[in-house]
Amino acid sequence: MTDRIGFIGLGIMGRPMARNLLKAGLTVWNRSRPGIDELVSEGAAAGAGPADVARRSGIVITMVGDSPDVEEVALGPNGIVEGAHDGLVHIDMSTISPDVTRRIAAGLAEAGIEMLDAPVSGGQQGAIDGTLSIMAGGKAETLGRCRPVLAAMGGKIVHCGPAGAGQTVKLCNQIAVAVTNLGVCEALVFAARSGIDPRVMIEAVSAGAGNSWQLQNLAPRIVERDFRPGFKVAHQRKDLRLALGAAAAMAAPLPGTGLVAELFSELVADGLGEEGTQALVKALEGAADVEVR
Ligand SMILES: NC(=O)c1ccc[n+]([C@@H]2O[C@H](COP(=O)([O-])OP(=O)(O)OC[C@H]3O[C@@H](n4cnc5c(N)ncnc54)[C@H](OP(=O)(O)O)[C@@H]3O)[C@@H](O)[C@H]2O)c1
Repeated sequence: MTDRIGFIGLGIMGRPMARNLLKAGLTVWNRSRPGIDELVSEGAAAGAGPADVARRSGIVITMVGDSPDVEEVALGPNGIVEGAHDGLVHIDMSTISPDVTRRIAAGLAEAGIEMLDAPVSGGQQGAIDGTLSIMAGGKAETLGRCRPVLAAMGGKIVHCGPAGAGQTVKLCNQIAVAVTNLGVCEALVFAARSGIDPRVMIEAVSAGAGNSWQLQNLAPRIVERDFRPGFKVAHQRKDLRLALGAAAAMAAPLPGTGLVAELFSELVADGLGEEGTQALVKALEGAADVEVR
């Protein structure tokens, strides 16, 4: 890697992703302090804010929350745009709206900053292991320059098309992830209601065609009643809202996604937005009068 890297957003995903870039020479910033202190203790420099991080970096990465968060960090007061300099690239790895991504890319381009959208899949463990799947949108030459940086965080990097295309593919991923999660939760509740030990069901089904990342990673946590977040309910609901909004604009049906989105909205209304997405099982357990364990 020849570029010095900046990293903004040190949450569940951002922290381990930034850690995999420490060797490059890293400047970090987060809205709250603990994430900064942790990375600084491991050798990163602390930036004073997004503009300062951008000024000190050739490539600045964001891993924050929703579309307004990326817009604020990129184009808002003291945002990346205020740290513009020759050759600066912004890579947004958060999951946000493809339309907002194109708007941010256009705003940054006016200041001479290239942007890639590069959302990821693979969860917290994939971030720790540096094996994320990275779905990139933007110019091929910009991606070419950034590949060594992305390769330190991901095992697979796919150029999906122009600005926003990475985010669109990520929404495809989220549709598949959420509907599969519902299938796994239904299978667990069905097993428990039938008097089958859920561990036995997981062992047998994971060796056959019913296997999935969700069955392997989320089902064991449900059985242990471990609802700590790898991926938060609130973020999953955000992603499904984005997918449903884009689908409505194209008049494309997403009936399964609509159903899971409603269940995630109920969980958020019940105050479970900060739990992991395996909490989806709680939306089914009440009606079935059973607890999976
Ligand atoms: N977790 C997963 O498995 C996973 C997988 C793939 C993609 N994603 C996506 O990746 C992104 C981050 O996910 P996460 O799980 O790491 O979330 P998280 O734990 O909630 O962390 C979000 C981070 O962004 C910061 N942030 C949020 N809004 C901000 C703003 N307006 N200005 C500055 N900083 C802001 C937060 O700062 P504070 O510390 O101050 O709150 C926090 O450090 C989301 O878009 C999510 O959908 C998550």
